[in-house]
Amino acid sequence: VYKRQMYCCTKINNDIIWIGVNDRKTERFENYIPLDNGVTYNSYLILDEKICIIDGVEEGENGNFLGKIEAMIGTAPVDYIIVNHVEPDHSGSIKNMLKIYPEIKVVGNAKTIMMLKLLGVDLPDERIVVVKEKDVLDLGKHKLTFYLMPMVHWPESMATYDMTDKILFSNDAFGSFGTLDGGVFDDEVNTDFFTDEMRRYYSNIVGKFGAPVNAVLKKLSSVEISCICPSHGLIWRKYIKEIIERYQKWANMEPTKEGVVIVYGSMYGHTAEMAEVLGRELGNRGIKDVIIYDSSKTDHSYIFSTIWKYKALILGSCAHNNDIYPKMEPLLHKLENYGLKNRYLGIFGNMMWSGGGVKRIKEFADTLTGLEQVGEPIEIKGHVTPAERDRLIELANLMADKLIADRK
Ligand code: FEO
Repeated sequence: VYKRQMYCCTKINNDIIWIGVNDRKTERFENYIPLDNGVTYNSYLILDEKICIIDGVEEGENGNFLGKIEAMIGTAPVDYIIVNHVEPDHSGSIKNMLKIYPEIKVVGNAKTIMMLKLLGVDLPDERIVVVKEKDVLDLGKHKLTFYLMPMVHWPESMATYDMTDKILFSNDAFGSFGTLDGGVFDDEVNTDFFTDEMRRYYSNIVGKFGAPVNAVLKKLSSVEISCICPSHGLIWRKYIKEIIERYQKWANMEPTKEGVVIVYGSMYGHTAEMAEVLGRELGNRGIKDVIIYDSSKTDHSYIFSTIWKYKALILGSCAHNNDIYPKMEPLLHKLENYGLKNRYLGIFGNMMWSGGGVKRIKEFADTLTGLEQVGEPIEIKGHVTPAERDRLIELANLMADKLIADRK
C-alpha cells in the first residue's frame, strides 16, 4: 500500500512512475551551456516485488526528489537504484539514497561502479550489483536487462530495458533540454520546442560521438520499444520512429533541412554588413531558411544546434591581432573537435591593414575534410564597395545553386 501522491509524480503505466524533477534554477548545464528553458532530471520508480529506481537527479534537487519517493512508497525500502550514467546530474542523489535506504543496492556496470567511487561514493561490495550487457535483473513481474552504450556519452553509459513492458530507459540518449511544464509524454505537448532543445542537447553533449551512437542504434534496431524514457525531457511513446530517425541523421552529421547558417564576428560592423548582403541574396534565390548569428551575442550552444540542422554554413570574421575574432575561435575549435562534416562552407571576412580572420577560417576548412568549400574566400578592407558587394552576391548565388541542385 503506497501513500497518496502529494508530489507531482506521473504514471508511465500501472507500475512505473515518473519521479523526475524540473530544474529551473541552474544557470548552465555542465557549467557552460545555458539552461534558458531549464532542464529535467528524469527518474523512474518501478513498483514491483522489488522496488527499483532508475537514475537519480542532480544533488541540488534531492529534496524534491526524495520527497517524491517518500510520497509514493512511504517508509517501504527501496531495493535497487540503477545508475545508467554516473554524470552528477543523475548520480547526485546516490550518497543520500545510500544513507536513507540502508538495504538499497546500486546497480551498474563495472565502469559505473569505478566512476561512482571516483566521485567519492562509498560503495562496499555488499551494496553493489554489477551487470553486464543483457544480464537480467528480476524485480518480480518486471524483468530488466541492460544495453551498454559506451561514449553515449560517457564510457559507462548504459540503457535499461524493461522486457515486460518494452520500455527503454535510455538515459541521456533521446534526452532534451527544457522543463516539463505541462505534459510529460510527446503526445501531450507541442513537440516543436522539444525538437529544438533535443537537437541542442544532442549536438552539444553527444554530437562528437556519432560512431558510438550509430553502434547503439544498430544494437537497438531489433529491440521492440513501446516507450522511450530518457533522463532529460519528454517521454516518447508516439514519435519513437521519428526520433530514432532523427538520431540516425544526427549521428551521421547529416543535415535535416535546407538552409544556410551565417555566423560572423564583427567589431565595427563591416563583417556584419557582408553577412547582410549574403543573407539577402540567399533570400532572393528562394532559400527560405537563412539564419544569421552574431557570435558575440548568441550563446554558441544555440549556434551549434542550428549548424547541426542545416546543410550550408558561411563563416565570417574580422581580423583581430592578426587572428580570428575572439568570439569566433571557440566555435571553430568546437566544430573541429566534433569533426563537422556533410556541409557546404562559405568563407568571408574583413580587415583594415592586415588579415587573420579569413586565414583562420581557411585553416579550419582545410582541417575538416568533410566540408565542401563553395566559392573562394572573400576578404575585403573596410566597408563594402559595389564591386565587393557583387563578389558577395556571387558567393551567395554559388551557395544557393548548390542547395537548389540538391532538391532534385
Ligand atoms: Fe545527463 Fe551526461 O548527463
